Amino acid sequence: MDQLIINGGNALHGRVEVSGAKNAALGIIAAALLADGISTIENVPCVNDVRVLIESIQDLGVKVEYLDQHTIKIDSTKVDKLVVDYEHINKIRASYYLLGALLGRFNHSEVAMPGGCNIGQRPIDQHIKGFEALGATVDLEHGMVKVTANKLIGTNIYLDVVSVGATINIMMAACMAEGVTHIENPAKEPHIVDVANYLNSMGADIKGAGTDLIKIHGVKGMHGSEYTIIPDQIEAGTYMIAAAITGGDVTVGNLIPKHMEAISAKMQEMGVVITEELDTLRVTAKHPLKGINVKTLPYPGFPTDMQPQMTALLSIAEGTGVITESIFENRFSYVDELSRMGVNIKVEGNTAIVTGVTELEGAKVSATDLRAGAALVLAGLFANGETIVNHVDYIDRGYEFIENKLKALGADIVRKTDNMDKSMFKVV
Ligand code: UD1
Repeated sequence: MDQLIINGGNALHGRVEVSGAKNAALGIIAAALLADGISTIENVPCVNDVRVLIESIQDLGVKVEYLDQHTIKIDSTKVDKLVVDYEHINKIRASYYLLGALLGRFNHSEVAMPGGCNIGQRPIDQHIKGFEALGATVDLEHGMVKVTANKLIGTNIYLDVVSVGATINIMMAACMAEGVTHIENPAKEPHIVDVANYLNSMGADIKGAGTDLIKIHGVKGMHGSEYTIIPDQIEAGTYMIAAAITGGDVTVGNLIPKHMEAISAKMQEMGVVITEELDTLRVTAKHPLKGINVKTLPYPGFPTDMQPQMTALLSIAEGTGVITESIFENRFSYVDELSRMGVNIKVEGNTAIVTGVTELEGAKVSATDLRAGAALVLAGLFANGETIVNHVDYIDRGYEFIENKLKALGADIVRKTDNMDKSMFKVV
């Protein structure tokens, strides 16, 4: 496994560009399979989850070509099989998007039960409820989800929990269903809107993505299109915190400030200065910052995917910070690792209480999931001496060239590569 070796203490300065949104890319690449044609997708982030999804659609017979590092051409005219094997997909959560996309186009799909970061139970009952409401039969056997329908018919679907995955999956399945589908209580994350915009560019008729009601008028067929993925809200937020935790001055470029509002507001409450200009946020911070309360919520609330990074920032703020996780039940697995660096933190149920300290000590730590890994890197940027972060494979799932971007801002960070590890992900 690769390691990141960080010598903390450098205040970050300069400008960093945000890559395309991982979670939008995953939905959009799966959605491309709805088209009987060719799509060109720009601003695709160079991260491992995306590579794994691309490999798995190639295994279905879909042709994928890289036009440059961030642009792919997906030719889904021909799809040879509708079964996505465990070997191809167990590593990533977004595997389940192939259920909705293949069901929507071919009325059938079989996908291994989704994997992903171990941050909670992560059931898919709302996805299944949606498929069944559209007229499909869903069977769970031998670790596979098998979904099949004679034809899909539009209907009203109320989601009992706000689910990003279920919203995207049902949108995809409903695009070519007969009649009208309403999704009530959908997720409103920026990548929901991005996937809907892409589907509309392919000929779908979706209205209301990003609001409390999504209306989908079924269309007869869908075609390929050209589309550019939005910037990654969570990557942007992570670099904003990198600036703040090091007491630096960083301009985070190529982001959508509106998507950052919850994160910006909480950081401003701590005393971080954030200045907006077109598609950039300039983040400056002078320590000490102030401990605050943060609760994760579906968009437009504070994102659960920023919770570990925010905890890292609160760990060096003055006073007490309280972080309440309301989306996933197992999202504090990283606190033991942070404690090894001197973070004063106590977890009670879904709440973590952090008492700020003025110094952290470098230590050997291991990422326990993607965003937990980011939090350890952030703590390492502040800590005295050397921090070694193990299990960088988690971080590589969702951050493009993280050490290069941080190094360009003045961080002392290097990657120690384990060449054996690289064979896990074939570069396409
Ligand atoms: C997506 C994101 C992930 C982010 C999460 C919440 C992708 C690939 N991943 O994950 O990065 O952390 O949204 O913003 O986009 N739930 C159910 N039944 C279901 C589905 C979900 O009970 O059928 C629950 C989950 O256990 C969780 C909550 O709903 O408590 C939200 O989950 P969901 O929004 O579906 O997360 P993911 O789509 O898995």
